[in-house]
Amino acid sequence: MRKKIIAGNWKMNKSYDEGMALVSELSNMVKDEYHGSAQVVIIPPALYINALSRMTADFSNISTGAQNCSNHVSGAYTGEISAAMVKSCGGKYIIIGHSERRQYFGETNDWLAKKIDAVLAENLNPIYCVGETLEEREGNTHFEVLKTQVSEGLFHLSAEQMASVVIAYEPVWAIGTGKTASTQQAQEVHAFIRNLVKEKYNETVADNLTIQYGGSVKADNAAELFAAPDIDGALVGGAALQSRSFADIVKAMA
Ligand code: PGA
Repeated sequence: MRKKIIAGNWKMNKSYDEGMALVSELSNMVKDEYHGSAQVVIIPPALYINALSRMTADFSNISTGAQNCSNHVSGAYTGEISAAMVKSCGGKYIIIGHSERRQYFGETNDWLAKKIDAVLAENLNPIYCVGETLEEREGNTHFEVLKTQVSEGLFHLSAEQMASVVIAYEPVWAIGTGKTASTQQAQEVHAFIRNLVKEKYNETVADNLTIQYGGSVKADNAAELFAAPDIDGALVGGAALQSRSFADIVKAMA
């Protein structure tokens, strides 16, 4: 059975105390109101992973994760954090290749493929982000772009390794803009990605792959997106910064 995953990416937001308060509220909402339907992944700034993993340890449907990690195992890489460090703080998921990392930090598909390997080497789950820019969509090159991102980032993996991977489709033009892809646009891309995985691996690997949608997901558009057959959850930015709005997205999956 394909896992449904709602992940909240805080990006570079929230103080430590604000983060603790948010998750304390959220974990109770998720526990009391909507338990069981989906895995909830909290992805705060890396400094807070340890404390939040401990805070949520008794909630089996809540995990934590990191927004990025190094492609190196350890060593003289000032400012970097490794997948093993995330794991040692209780994190289970690591976002790899978010469009902001690609855009502002020059991360390429080749580079990201190495980060995927680093995450898998620790038996953690990468959430690999792909998505086209507005220019690419308007120029009708988005399928080509997505195919390159998926194949160069992931297709060196074995079928067994692919079972640990989550893909997030996040059209760059929908991130933080309030402009969501229509359910039809998202479903079309998700089915396309699943088919690429099927052609490269097999039907079982493709069927079991969780593909999240990201880009201005809110409580009021989540239910419609989640009703599409190939949309298995969401990677949420802005709406993950408040317990109520994020819990309502989790509820929409129920
Ligand atoms: P958004 O961000 O929900 O604020 O659009 C999504 C993301 O960047 O993952």
